[in-house]
Amino acid sequence: MTAKLINGNEVAQQIREELKQEVARIKDKVIPGLVTILVGENPASVSYVTAKQKTSKELGFYSIQDNQLATITEEELLKLIDKYNKDPKIHGILVQLPLPKHINETKVLYAIDPKKDVDGFHPVNVGKLMIGEADYLPCTPAGIQQLIIRTGAKIDGAEVVVVGRSNIVGKPIANILLQKQKGANATVTICHTGTKDMTFHTKRADILIVAAGKPKAITGDMVKEGAVVIDVGVNRIGMTPEGKAKLAGDVDFDSVKEKASAITPVPGGVGPMTITMLMMNTVKAAKVHAGIS
Ligand code: GUN
Repeated sequence: MTAKLINGNEVAQQIREELKQEVARIKDKVIPGLVTILVGENPASVSYVTAKQKTSKELGFYSIQDNQLATITEEELLKLIDKYNKDPKIHGILVQLPLPKHINETKVLYAIDPKKDVDGFHPVNVGKLMIGEADYLPCTPAGIQQLIIRTGAKIDGAEVVVVGRSNIVGKPIANILLQKQKGANATVTICHTGTKDMTFHTKRADILIVAAGKPKAITGDMVKEGAVVIDVGVNRIGMTPEGKAKLAGDVDFDSVKEKASAITPVPGGVGPMTITMLMMNTVKAAKVHAGIS
């Protein structure tokens, strides 16, 4: 079998068009406001934040990119967050991760007002997700769920295997897909570095989600014939002749595409969906703030 490509750019574009119309519809009552806070100059973070800002402007948001030096103290960063917590024009606050080592990431995430936590990383929002009452789904997992739904794959009752247990992707996507809800209700297994026999699990997956942070972590021999494969990895594996970063996922695309029924490419799969879901959460936050539906 040669897999169908799941085009994240196309799906993201459709949703962005819908959001653009929604922003135009509500603009007399509220203009969604998003601040992205970037600490330091990690090249991957710079490119993510730039893309988030560009999209928010295209959709008609009020948006601020707040760049801070890597030497900012934890106290200064907490003060900055407090300023945006109090700013009525800002409905969404995103602090790009990772942060420099001298800053306690958990403390920073706790400081964001849960109502403005459009990343869905605050413990209040993580807890609400856990009990099926989420206000904001974290962006990458929400984008993954949308991509799977749009392949037409049946999630209800499916064997889903997630490779990776990060707080940003692995744990939340597992939680989302196991809820007794539409677009979910799967049997979910999470594999990680402590898993004894990875292939035993991945071979059983109807839907395989890979967020291992390691290129070629999954090869064709580890995948069931006809599986839907979502590759969340973004690994920089060199430079293109034009001087751009050359990216590869966590899945060995060439061998896995011969087994899967559908697969996301890297780039152009999950990435554009993450940004789109952030925009969706920000529009939602603005509407809640303005008391409109
Ligand atoms: N770093 C990598 N992914 C993300 C994300 O979704 N949100 C934030 N804030 N930082 C990230």
